[in-house]
Amino acid sequence: MMDTPAGLAIKPLSPLCGAEIVGVDLSQELPQQTIGAIQRAWNQYVVLIFRGQELSEEAQLRFASYFGELGKRKKPPDELKKRVTGTEQFTPEVMLVSNKRVDGEPVGAFGDGEMWFHIDSGYAESPYAYTFLYGVELPSWGGNTRFANTVAAYEELPQKVKDKLKGKKALHIHEYERRQRVPLRDDISGSPHWFHPVLIEHPKSGRTALFVDRLMTRRIEGVSLEESEELLAFLYDHVEQERFVFEHEWSLGDVVMWDNLATIHGRTYFPETETRLLRRCTVEGSPLKMAG
Ligand SMILES: [Fe+2]
Repeated sequence: MMDTPAGLAIKPLSPLCGAEIVGVDLSQELPQQTIGAIQRAWNQYVVLIFRGQELSEEAQLRFASYFGELGKRKKPPDELKKRVTGTEQFTPEVMLVSNKRVDGEPVGAFGDGEMWFHIDSGYAESPYAYTFLYGVELPSWGGNTRFANTVAAYEELPQKVKDKLKGKKALHIHEYERRQRVPLRDDISGSPHWFHPVLIEHPKSGRTALFVDRLMTRRIEGVSLEESEELLAFLYDHVEQERFVFEHEWSLGDVVMWDNLATIHGRTYFPETETRLLRRCTVEGSPLKMAG
């Protein structure tokens, strides 16, 4: 790889998705050359892992800010606020993905058990461009994060499906569930939602990515409901095939960063009786462009 700083090594972890970066201490300010090498590896592997990091919240935010403007937690509608207002989420740019409770109150959000594949804030007008997670507390087993490469998945779609999806938009609805399809109601004004192109042009690479996920994408516009259901079921099964997926088994001190517009991600089950806490921050994105 061109212009890779001394000491930095890139180890691919699966053929289509995921690489480990060795030889970088994220608690320190990084020179431009190192940031450039990480960005290039990121463009190629879409998910990067750094192990054994000791990272304060400030250092995590500084690292993320090398890649764009930091994202803020989305504001939920008032009636749903309780589900995501963690008692220890003090910084607007930080979310604690956790099942941990102190005095009965959740310290973070979205923390229990399995979670279906999704796109972070895929229901918003401008979904996050990037997400960064840092492993703070982990259960003895489970709670792995699974990623699927949505650019590779698009490329391997049958041509007639590509043709069918061209120019289409789909409705993404957020109802704060983790493993349940959102019911399709006539009035969705109470739930955050947005219509996005099913095929997006990735803002950095210009490549086409499939932009749907099992958890929040509910309806493809411009086809019958029956056809929409059939297409979505096909797309979910297609993109979640093992050959597009990389599964990360967490260790304390891991930093995992991913391209939220070139992947979907989900979480495997872990025991409710154990604590899992990951510190999340993001980089803001822009309204999505339909692939040409
Ligand atoms: Fe997520």
